[in-house]
Amino acid sequence: MKKLKRAIFLDRDGTIIEDRGFLSDPSQVHFYENCFEPLSQLKNEFLLFIVTNQSGIADKVITLEQANLVNQFVVKTLERHQISITEVYTCPHNNKDNCDCKKPKTFFLEEAAKKYNLDLKNSFVIGDHPHDVELALNVGATGIYVLTGHGEKHKGELAPGSLCSANLREAAELIIAKSGSVNAISPPGSAGHNYFHHPTLEIKMLQEIQNAAKIIRNGGVGSFPTETVYGLGANALDKNGVARIFEIKKRPFFDPLIVHIANREQLSELVQDIPPLANKLIDHFWPGPLTLVLQKKESVPDIVTSGNPTVAVRMPEHPIALELLKMAGVPIAAPSANLFGRTSPTTAEHVQSQLGSDIDFLLDGGPCSVGVESTILSLITDPPVLLRSGGTPIEAIEALIGTVTKLNNSSTENPVAPGQLLEHYAPRTPLRFIDSAKTIPHNCRVGFISFQGVHLPEKITQTEILSAQGSLTEAAANLFAAMHRLDALGLDLILCEKFPDRSLGIAINDRLTRASAKTKF
Ligand code: TXA
Ligand code: MG
Repeated sequence: MKKLKRAIFLDRDGTIIEDRGFLSDPSQVHFYENCFEPLSQLKNEFLLFIVTNQSGIADKVITLEQANLVNQFVVKTLERHQISITEVYTCPHNNKDNCDCKKPKTFFLEEAAKKYNLDLKNSFVIGDHPHDVELALNVGATGIYVLTGHGEKHKGELAPGSLCSANLREAAELIIAKSGSVNAISPPGSAGHNYFHHPTLEIKMLQEIQNAAKIIRNGGVGSFPTETVYGLGANALDKNGVARIFEIKKRPFFDPLIVHIANREQLSELVQDIPPLANKLIDHFWPGPLTLVLQKKESVPDIVTSGNPTVAVRMPEHPIALELLKMAGVPIAAPSANLFGRTSPTTAEHVQSQLGSDIDFLLDGGPCSVGVESTILSLITDPPVLLRSGGTPIEAIEALIGTVTKLNNSSTENPVAPGQLLEHYAPRTPLRFIDSAKTIPHNCRVGFISFQGVHLPEKITQTEILSAQGSLTEAAANLFAAMHRLDALGLDLILCEKFPDRSLGIAINDRLTRASAKTKF
């Protein structure tokens, strides 16, 4: 198959040259300062096109010939800077014409894609009007809005989460940051994931991620958000980097790590084979909070799997985690970014306060949306075995693949998933389930973790209600942060309710049970 090429579709007025109304003569052309350098960087990896709406032609303000003369001048000037424009597409219509080519209509991009064999999904549109971003969306490309030209005036009309940059130079930096990741993983146009499906990250964050990716590739260790909890990551194929994770967390070596990946090609590099059942689960649940245990390949270091012949793998759903994985170009081994046995972090502040000084970077993505760790399912046996309940409800898994084996997960002596110790997730403050038979010592300062806020007879210093409306999903998202807050109060005891034993309630009860395992009173 012929390799698809990637393209950048550039708006003309307000993006490459100043917008001074409908131009009829080359003498009216003013290039933006510093527009040549970014374009000459982009031309190495992309075919460049200009797509411009010139409704002044239909409105008889200018003629088609005049517009073409201006275009030719723009192209010639760019050529003098060694930047070649593959084609210029000019729409001469106004709205009344109801044509197929006026941006955000897609006619020109579709023509270009056919003629030049373009990979539109991995292509970009840059422009100073919301219709430029919309055009990108309409063909599955990534749109980048620039604040030059009309950009500042219309930015309120942009869809939330659109990529925005100050000017063409910044837009180019953004594209280079993003496309660097493509090359690191697989050649552009190879099968697999859409590499640009998270166009919501700001440039500053992308630069931070790029820096973090470099650190990971150089053997460093740092923390990044996932949809479940914050992870503490290192290059999974670098045993020295992985060893530092264990050191920083003070984690015993018998506790294997989960390896995070960005696409299926990476999975094939880690595991011996991908059984049909795995593919079914992956199609349905990835990216997302489901970890699959499969037979590992030789290349996965023993330190990652604690010497097991199997490896646990997941594709996270968080845009920052995915972007980091893509830019790093290597699988990332990552446990939760807390000290061993302690409560998992669901905000960057949690990570900062436990590990801040020991790690090489910390990417702040705000609070995690799921809030409990991934569900772990072993596909080594048939039927599969649930090793840890977590963010993907077991009911959803069973609806897809039928009954899976559940083991008694709460045993200290013989943890079913290696490392699933009973005393885990524990705040420093003793924690236990409410039990009317047990009295609370006098003068005790007590915190309470409640589902919807039931009233207790005991005197409570602080109550954390995890979901007033009774949503287990919301409760899971709030669980660890509530534990962290109560722990910070220096209380004598934390009481918690038992949650309904279904969906994410199962994971919540599991974490609370482990957190309470050492409490004596
Ligand atoms: O949501 C999550 O999974 C988070 C985020 C950061 O992705 N990560 C996480 O990692 O929870 P961690 O280290 O807390 O969980 C690792 C657990 C081990 O304790 C073990 O139970 C299981 O995953 N595990 C890892 N490798 C395994 C293997 N080869 N066989 C069986 N279980 C394994
Ligand atoms: Mg414009």
